[in-house]
Amino acid sequence: MLLLQPIRRLSLLCSKISKMENTVLLEASDENIRYAAELIKQGKTVGIPTETVYGLGADALNPHAVKKIFEAKGRPGDNPLIVHIYDIDTVSLIAHDVPEIFFRLAEKFWPGPLTMIVSKKSIIPYETSGGLDTVGIRMPSHKIMRKLIQLAGPIAAPSANRSGYPSPTSAHHVMCDMNGIIPAVIDGGESRFGVESTVISFDDEKTVRILRPGSVTKQMLEKAAEKVIVDEAILNELDSDRTAPSPGMKYKHYSPEANVVLVEGNFESFCRLAEKYDKESTYCLIFDNDDISKIPCKFMKYGSGSDEQAHLVFSRLREADKLHAETVLVRAPSADGVGLAVYNRLLRASGFEVIRI
Ligand code: TXA
Ligand code: MG
Repeated sequence: MLLLQPIRRLSLLCSKISKMENTVLLEASDENIRYAAELIKQGKTVGIPTETVYGLGADALNPHAVKKIFEAKGRPGDNPLIVHIYDIDTVSLIAHDVPEIFFRLAEKFWPGPLTMIVSKKSIIPYETSGGLDTVGIRMPSHKIMRKLIQLAGPIAAPSANRSGYPSPTSAHHVMCDMNGIIPAVIDGGESRFGVESTVISFDDEKTVRILRPGSVTKQMLEKAAEKVIVDEAILNELDSDRTAPSPGMKYKHYSPEANVVLVEGNFESFCRLAEKYDKESTYCLIFDNDDISKIPCKFMKYGSGSDEQAHLVFSRLREADKLHAETVLVRAPSADGVGLAVYNRLLRASGFEVIRI
């Protein structure tokens, strides 16, 4: 039997402390990674670090294992999971009719935060693909995640938050959501990017469609593909007559308990608007370089540039709940480059509640 060392338990400071405290938090030693891979091979779920956000991983080829992910998260069964692979050869094992452009993009952006949707082979169970005939594939770059896939085979992993809540960017966040629900979490430190991978599909050999923006930006994809379309559902609420190109677009997402309001406008008008909100229960989420002497509410900062904002945004939304905020007024980020990912997450966290001043 493998000896787990060292195992730590957290004193949890979560907004909602959960059930029995029996999830082990594992330091990322080789031994513990081997143990986590064993759990996955046995059909169990494990919280695992990736370079984007923490994932809740299980054997992608085992329908019983994958079902546990949906149960743990409270995730609707028709929302497909991304399959994480170790090497490019695995693509032909799990997908068919893969367009040539897929391999060009893989060459450029893998391993890394890009998920590409293609037709699935029957080895991928419908439980994993949410009933679809397609599969989203990603080759992550995080060393721990890569080691796990090498040892356990393809791993299905959504973000390791309870469904609808902001994604976890630290092992602590995963413990807050999953303690007592899953057997183990590996602590790989803070996630490097902080927002989930860019998800794309292919309209044809030349056309890439972005279904979820991430750290592989439209501008980066344009260097490798002739045409890149940002799907309209990224910045707009889905019309009821349009089928979601990605099931995840249908669902409430990234939302803390607090009511998030996205505010577009300059800092002066932001402060004037903030004046109208209750000073006790409202938090302003502002930029690092904003003049805090002018802020009429309690505040938190989330960086200045898009990379920093991506890194901090989910963590700040979670902190708002810890602070029992009722409302979070957010200074809208720039929607350029990686900023589009930050803007998209905040827009969804707010339920499309935007004030333009
Ligand atoms: O960075 C990431 O992508 C993280 C880490 C753990 O890898 N994973 C992640 O998974 O964000 P998840 O399940 O939280 O988000 C995946 C999104 C969902 O909105 C899902 O609907 C969409 O990708 N998706 C997955 N497979 C798809 C498919 N076959 N067709 C359309 N959309 C798909
Ligand atoms: Mg997610």
